[in-house]
Amino acid sequence: MMIIAVDGPAASGKGTLSKRVAHHYALAYLDTGSLYRAVARDTVIAGGDPRDEAAAVAAAEKLDPKTFEDPGLRARGVGEAASIVAAHAQVRAALLAYQRAFAAQPSGAVIDGRDIGTVICPNATVKLFVTATPEERARRRYLQLAEGSIPVTEDEVLADIRKRDERDKGREAAPLVKAEDAHLLDTTNLSIDAAFKAAIDLIDAALGRS
Ligand code: DC
Repeated sequence: MMIIAVDGPAASGKGTLSKRVAHHYALAYLDTGSLYRAVARDTVIAGGDPRDEAAAVAAAEKLDPKTFEDPGLRARGVGEAASIVAAHAQVRAALLAYQRAFAAQPSGAVIDGRDIGTVICPNATVKLFVTATPEERARRRYLQLAEGSIPVTEDEVLADIRKRDERDKGREAAPLVKAEDAHLLDTTNLSIDAAFKAAIDLIDAALGRS
């Protein structure tokens, strides 16, 4: 059973990349960021504050996987609120079983997030750590938001990204860090196609297929 763990910072392109990798190897795909985004959304809908651990845990315990595809989860403020709920150790604990069960399905899986190679699937078959400079990530996210006609400047997006990086790396519970045995993939100067090819080359080499 093949498990590919893909971690990296906000807007590094790991989602697009992971989806294509999953398709290439015919594996199931889970974007774990959507779990934290859904917890943030449900906390706020219930009238709670994402900074309140008990309120966020209550939302995490009632999470409905059918809502993970909700386009509203992609909104600018939701990523920020997700990063806040994700810093609570009890929220992370409440989401652990779902992620491990997903990883254990017989078809195998590609799972992306922040702590997949370090905490969720430390025994993953292959681990990738996808990065790009904050400026390049801001440029890509800005273009994406502008396409959806969201009124925001590139500088504001860069500030969001820096703040989120700091919180995701600086927290005590499962901080964003490259697993020692993860393969680093810097996509700063790569197109989506080139990043995909580099990922497949790394994975095939790790599987002894090249
Ligand atoms: O990947 P994303 O931008 O959709 O994730 C949103 C937030 O959720 C991110 O800032 C940190 C948190 N997250 C996490 O802590 N652990 C994960 N495995 C995935 C996301």
